[in-house]
Amino acid sequence: MRSWSPESWLEKTIKQMPHYADQQSLDSVNHQLSQHPPLVTVNEIVQLKKQLVQAATGKRFLLQGGDCAESFSECTTQNIENKLKILLQMSLILVHGLRKPVIRVGRLAGQYAKPRSADEETIDGVTLPCYRGDLINGLEFNEASRIPDPERMLRGYAHSSMTLNYLRALVHSGFADLHHPENWDLNFVEHSPKRDEYLSVVNDIQNSIEFFDTIAGLATDALQRVDFFASHEALNLHYEQALTRKAKDGNWYCMSTHLPWVGMRTAFKDSAHIEYLAGIHNPVAMKVGPELSAEELIELIEKLNPNNELGRLTLIHRFGVDKIEKGLPEIIRIVQKAQKNVLWICDPMHGNTRKTESGIKTREFADILGELQHAFKIHADNGSILGGAHFELTGENVTECTGGARGLTDSDLHQRYKSLVDPRLNYEQALELAMQIVKRV
Ligand code: PEP
Ligand code: CO
Repeated sequence: MRSWSPESWLEKTIKQMPHYADQQSLDSVNHQLSQHPPLVTVNEIVQLKKQLVQAATGKRFLLQGGDCAESFSECTTQNIENKLKILLQMSLILVHGLRKPVIRVGRLAGQYAKPRSADEETIDGVTLPCYRGDLINGLEFNEASRIPDPERMLRGYAHSSMTLNYLRALVHSGFADLHHPENWDLNFVEHSPKRDEYLSVVNDIQNSIEFFDTIAGLATDALQRVDFFASHEALNLHYEQALTRKAKDGNWYCMSTHLPWVGMRTAFKDSAHIEYLAGIHNPVAMKVGPELSAEELIELIEKLNPNNELGRLTLIHRFGVDKIEKGLPEIIRIVQKAQKNVLWICDPMHGNTRKTESGIKTREFADILGELQHAFKIHADNGSILGGAHFELTGENVTECTGGARGLTDSDLHQRYKSLVDPRLNYEQALELAMQIVKRV
């Protein structure tokens, strides 16, 4: 095999990457980033990999979620706290209902670069390059803001580091204490025909916690602190390369996050992004959509996981509720036939995006839930394991996805639509989804 290095991706087919006109500025930023401390540790990465092995064999469940695109301006106390809160609450419902530990992985502290379907957008006759995430260029619709700026990588690093710093502090200082489900905002339950069922889930969780405390005596401490990991799409390879370090074990690690993934638009043969992920020692994930051929899928799996190591590779399938019944059994069979060890998780968001009549991007709660339910059933019917789920969600009360207990409709979406790219489940919809998942499996 040709030798791998953190920059060998430069020799491959590069898609979805910014072109930086100012080489001097790029070099200076790369140098500065390469001198900065890593954002995560090898020990944390190794711990996560061990937990992913268990998810692949059905002993744990991976909950991965967060914004489609984080933004620098939304790196606030409130947003970070609320995102952690919703992920913890969802995980508690899943632990309780699935009767297995949950691995919590945020889509955060680095989810600042976005692949786009089109290179340009036109507004009122003016055509400019698309917004590609705060790590690359600015959202503001003017020429200067849309030029890719390497300096943004330093800001991306700083914001990721602020986010991780606060998350770590929260997780280790009692914020994650699972003793008080009564503090959950459950107002939406009043709007649901499933009110009694939901309240009994929360009561049951509370009773279980009390029971656990009573028998163990010292359980308090264990319930106060939880593991929490970070992930993002490894899209801007200049940024990832500068944060790639050789560890004492002799292996290269991506130190900007625990679990980097490659998106659907950059997962193809000879891709620069696949080349980068192939050489790092982190667990990695790959999005798998309906367009990927069987032959290409196996080739990419072999490239990313040549030793067929369990826990190394997570496949995130994202078909859409209309396509999953046809597409998923096929790829499960291909992977089984080739005897490839993978962790399967379902992203029920990206195949279910639609536009309203007035042109707003949205997703319907019932489609998201529907795809997940199909995924659980299809894996079970095919002797496979669905080991996790991947969501775009926020702890805020936004109106971006339709449906859920409050029955949001297309005409409600304008009220609090804040997402910069894809529509997210709001706090209530995310909690409701977790309750629905455990009811149906
Ligand atoms: C995403 O996760 O925001 C995304 C762009 O997904 P995909 O690569 O599956 O389209
Ligand atoms: Co998205």
